[in-house]
Amino acid sequence: MSSRRGAVLVAGATGHLGAEVVQELHQRGYTVHALVRSTANASRLQGLCKLVQGDVSKPASLQGVCAGITVVISCLGVTTKKGSGSPVSEANKVLKKGTIALFNEAKRAGSVQQFVLIGSVLSRQLRYQWAGYQAREAAVDHITKNCQDGSIAWTVVDPSAFFKDMVNIMRLVRKGGFTGLGKLLDHKANPIHVQDLAARVADTIMRKEDQNSRIPVGGPETFKYREIIQLAADTWGIKEVKIRTFPLWSARLLEWFFQGFAFISVRLQRFAYFLRFLVILATNDSVGQPTGKRKLDVFFTELATQARRAENARATSEMQPMLSHQD
Ligand SMILES: NC(=O)c1ccc[n+]([C@@H]2O[C@H](COP(=O)([O-])OP(=O)(O)OC[C@H]3O[C@@H](n4cnc5c(N)ncnc54)[C@H](OP(=O)(O)O)[C@@H]3O)[C@@H](O)[C@H]2O)c1
Repeated sequence: MSSRRGAVLVAGATGHLGAEVVQELHQRGYTVHALVRSTANASRLQGLCKLVQGDVSKPASLQGVCAGITVVISCLGVTTKKGSGSPVSEANKVLKKGTIALFNEAKRAGSVQQFVLIGSVLSRQLRYQWAGYQAREAAVDHITKNCQDGSIAWTVVDPSAFFKDMVNIMRLVRKGGFTGLGKLLDHKANPIHVQDLAARVADTIMRKEDQNSRIPVGGPETFKYREIIQLAADTWGIKEVKIRTFPLWSARLLEWFFQGFAFISVRLQRFAYFLRFLVILATNDSVGQPTGKRKLDVFFTELATQARRAENARATSEMQPMLSHQD
């Protein structure tokens, strides 16, 4: 689709995936509009797109954002900031009501032909097991129901896991070993590089076979989590990685405990929400259709190189006063 045939609006454009989707669409020659809550954190998008301000939790702020838009791509996610509410209410505000408000605005505009939404590979199957999935699936239900008249096509891209989520494994391994739920170790995932995912999201635009369907997407290699831990250890040159595991029941008990005291603070609610997510990861494989070419070992090596460079630069700057004193 050339820019003559309308523009693409990307929601969540300041996020990890959204910014990459904007970049990809720009490279492919699309006219891109980026929906941002604040232009302050959109410096990465400068020169790639037109910034449009709007907050999906305030439907009035969305009026007119889809004017002249042909495709809307929602990469919205819950970003918890200081002062934000409980994770469950944030998920309902952004992933459910916010996505629905954006879709309704897209439909009202009259020019939008396709609405693309980022889901998650486990979301449909496990919708009642985690509030984040439940909120997202409620939005998917609304969208698919309201597309039945054929006025707009819908596409849900369901990623497995992102490479960026494997960074924590790198950190833990370097700090002295992996600590986590034992059940996780033999579950599988095919994490995907954000650029490969952004390319797949861009491919869905006006592609007949992607319309009115869900597309489970993962990276080209499937690993057991214990293999990802070993890959991280190899990257750091660690021969024997220490693995300390906890049984599933301990996470469930902790979640139950934090849930019980969730009324005390949002922090406890976040912890319970996070524990539930860990239990889901540890009891399910997260695997989508193999897509893209970027490999996890290359990503790990790049990260390790960057980390070492930053450490060297820090060490040099710390030594500078001593060196100049010797002069
Ligand atoms: N991480 C994974 O492995 C994984 C796997 C499967 C699916 N997913 C899903 O993929 C999606 C994208 O993930 P991500 O990591 O790119 O998310 P992210 O980095 O957290 O970005 C979320 C984006 O949503 C925007 N946003 C939040 N609330 C908003 C509101 N009220 N109005 C307008 N914009 C709002 C944020 O804007 P601000 O900059 O203003 O906060 C940000 O641009 C998410 O839905 C996530 O659940 C992730």
